[in-house]
Amino acid sequence: MSPIPKAELHLHIEGTLEPELAFELAHRNGVDLPYADPEQLRSAYAFSDLQSFLDLYYQLMDVLRTEDDFTALAEAYLARAAREGVRHAEIFFDPQAHTSRGVELDAVVRGLRRALDAAPERHGISTKLIMCFLRDLPQESALATFEACRPYFGVAIAGVGLDSAEVGNPASKFADVYRLAREAGLRLVAHAGEEGGPEYVREALDVLGVERIDHGIRAIEDPELVERLVRERIPLTVCPFSNVRLRCVDTLADHPLPAMLAAGLLVTVNSDDPAYFGGYVDENFAGIREALDLTDSQLRVLARNSFEASFLEDDEERRKA
Ligand code: HPA
Ligand code: ZN
Repeated sequence: MSPIPKAELHLHIEGTLEPELAFELAHRNGVDLPYADPEQLRSAYAFSDLQSFLDLYYQLMDVLRTEDDFTALAEAYLARAAREGVRHAEIFFDPQAHTSRGVELDAVVRGLRRALDAAPERHGISTKLIMCFLRDLPQESALATFEACRPYFGVAIAGVGLDSAEVGNPASKFADVYRLAREAGLRLVAHAGEEGGPEYVREALDVLGVERIDHGIRAIEDPELVERLVRERIPLTVCPFSNVRLRCVDTLADHPLPAMLAAGLLVTVNSDDPAYFGGYVDENFAGIREALDLTDSQLRVLARNSFEASFLEDDEERRKA
């Protein structure tokens, strides 16, 4: 059966770095990895929470050095995504995680864009690129990154997001940079309600004015918030495998996704960091289908939601779905 057409809206391009490519790039760039081979690296992917994942994730990123490395990374994801039925992808990247290591912003953005710009013809996938601010760094760093990225706004970068360690780093810390992003005409999203409680989701909406919430699973703990998300049709980009691997949810069978669907939330299914969490978007679909007994019609709703929740224009959305 061919995979159901879908949009992927929560995907960190750095999280698509497979161990084999990491070793190839490490070799090419003379970077020493503290693992003997890709298998040993893969066996280190046992996380106890978000931070334990982020520590390894930022460490491994060090193999990404040149424009060509970023092109190779994005091209590998797009080829895989095409096989999984992805027709449109809104892709996160973390500029600060690269510039802080001395990699030029130009190398990152141009490298990614080279693969993304070829994707409609090569893979039948349209894309948008979203720059994320690392929320564990001060807002001053986000502001400097935002200004450095300004030449790319509208052309290469369509929106801003907020990722990394959530608890203790609420949305309100980034009010100024989001105000500037809105004034610059960028689309606004933020991770919220992954490890943090419903109040983190509320702040992202009220203080940052985001149009979409990344994760948002803990919103389900607050009926008033759920009612608001339903009423305002705010999409939630849920990542089931990620939630289990980062211990936000015990097992797939315990995932709140059915309750979220039943509440009428605009839920989508995504892979987050698929090289680390055991599967790409279609494996997430297959996993929840099995563990949560979802019907074909529920899976179709999830796929349809992904186009509605995307930043595609209405006419583009209809053509893709
Ligand atoms: N949460 C926060 N930061 C991240 C994630 C995530 O799921 N993936 C990559 N950076
Ligand atoms: Zn994420």
